[in-house]
Amino acid sequence: MPSSPEAQPLLLCFEDELASGARIADAGNLALARIEEHRFPDGEIKLRLPRTLPRHTVILCSLNDPNEKLIALLLAAHTARDLGAKHLTLVAPYLAYMRQDIAFEAGEAISQRVVGGFLASLFDALITVDPHLHRVASLQEAVPVSHAVTLSGAPLLSDLIATRRSNPLLIGPDEESAQWVAQAASRHGFDHAVCRKIRRGDREVEVSLPDFPISGRQVVLLDDVASTGHTIAQATRLLMAAGVTSVDMAVTHALFAGNALRVIQDAGVGDIWSTDCIDHPSNAVSMANLIAQALARIHAFD
Ligand code: R5P
Repeated sequence: MPSSPEAQPLLLCFEDELASGARIADAGNLALARIEEHRFPDGEIKLRLPRTLPRHTVILCSLNDPNEKLIALLLAAHTARDLGAKHLTLVAPYLAYMRQDIAFEAGEAISQRVVGGFLASLFDALITVDPHLHRVASLQEAVPVSHAVTLSGAPLLSDLIATRRSNPLLIGPDEESAQWVAQAASRHGFDHAVCRKIRRGDREVEVSLPDFPISGRQVVLLDDVASTGHTIAQATRLLMAAGVTSVDMAVTHALFAGNALRVIQDAGVGDIWSTDCIDHPSNAVSMANLIAQALARIHAFD
């Protein structure tokens, strides 16, 4: 039976993600609407959604700057249900609060469990990209929704690197990056290796280079996220000292907190490439097609 126009899934976007929303809507033939946002002088948020919503409604909200966005999502998801959404999907290309997955010291909040449970109470499905899952086996364990889809930026970043550098050496700045580095390297047969890292504080890391011949190589550092930039900067300084020809970087999530870009560039990184999971001038590849395909699979299933 042909579907009625009302049945077309709707993608709702906040103002700051309209460009990325338009790319996903185009790729997936979704209707697109904006969530209007008013900020009161004391900081409270008022949202306004379209008057009626279709059964399949999707909210796009990448969770960089997560603290305010989580409140906006709470308001938007409840309102979407009131306005007719029966099946609600969150597309959060960057999923925050995934790193604190245990209490490292007695009394610490296990943020992943708290935020994951909160999102699962609002949404039926979640699509995200390269979530920082360390000690849990699956995204669904961290965010217990019916459909939890993990995409990766590594293959697209690998394709980009293949067009920009010949015979690059991919290096992950820490052991946790091994999964993405291996995936990206195997796609084009790049050499690859990972560093070891000990984190001493928010901006203090100790990196050691892999036992791999690197002198004279064009290195691309690949990671899921760059936040303060100190991990990448420290790895870059060591690589330069070891005689590499160049260091560029590719990252899924361009968080770049504070002066991170300056820190990275001062260390000697040349080109910086990121996916559009977080809107940033370094965005060089778009996740829109993969997100649209994942949405189609979720909607076909429901
Ligand atoms: C953590 O292990 C991540 O993969 C990144 O390496 C880390 O978040 C980067 O943080 P920063 O840029 O603050 O050094």
